Amino acid sequence: MFQLDAEHVLRPVRSGDGAALASAYRANREHLAPWEPIRDEDFFTAEWQEHHARECEAEADAGRSLRFVIEAADGEIRGRANLNNIVRGAFWSTDLGYWVGAGQLRRGLGSRAVATIVQYARDDLGLHRIQAATLLHNHASQRVLTGNGFERIGIAPRYLRIAGHWQDHVLFQRILDDEKAPPASTLLGPTPRTSVKGRGGDRG
Ligand SMILES: CC(C)(COP(=O)(O)OP(=O)(O)OC[C@H]1O[C@@H](n2cnc3c(N)ncnc32)[C@H](O)[C@@H]1OP(=O)(O)O)[C@@H](O)C(=O)NCCC(=O)NCCS
Repeated sequence: MFQLDAEHVLRPVRSGDGAALASAYRANREHLAPWEPIRDEDFFTAEWQEHHARECEAEADAGRSLRFVIEAADGEIRGRANLNNIVRGAFWSTDLGYWVGAGQLRRGLGSRAVATIVQYARDDLGLHRIQAATLLHNHASQRVLTGNGFERIGIAPRYLRIAGHWQDHVLFQRILDDEKAPPASTLLGPTPRTSVKGRGGDRG
């Protein structure tokens, strides 16, 4: 678990999160709709989210992805940050995704969550690279990425189906393995419960 500020932590999604996740997605349905795939009604139920939370745990145990929530002190979920599609072999790369709740925007929470998860990907997972993709007009997300040292790669035409349409995206990356590890004091608390198997096993 990582402390993001006085009120929020970043921690892995776990079994039992279904109700809080459903509540967060219902509260942010309009806010997120322009930036995400179209969601079925089921997506907003505690049952669907609980199933998703269990899948997140299984994926983390298998080393395929690591999904986190931004959680307030009272247990409310106020955002997400995910390392998806963790691939090793000749790639050692992952796709980053994130959102912050409509009531907490522009307070630095998104930037801190991304800084923390990038540090985790570099220092704990030993990954070479993180990629992120934003819609062309998602200036807030682009600011979060450039503020965290991501470089623009270019435009990928019709890259993801967002809000029901295959839309062009700007791709960004940050290369991690040339970076010096920061002082341990910049990360508060122990590493998440989940571990990623295979680290160091198939780099080549
Ligand atoms: C993108 C998002 C996570 C940013 O979260 P946040 O907590 O508000 O971001 P921060 O407060 O850390 O702000 C980071 C920077 O973006 C800027 N910013 C934030 N919202 C902005 C907006 N709507 N327009 C322009 N700039 C914006 C801030 O001023 C800040 O700039 P600075 O680094 O120059 O000071 C949030 O807007 C969000 O969840 N959007 C919907 C989902 C989404 O787009 N996810 C990403 C998909 S790629």
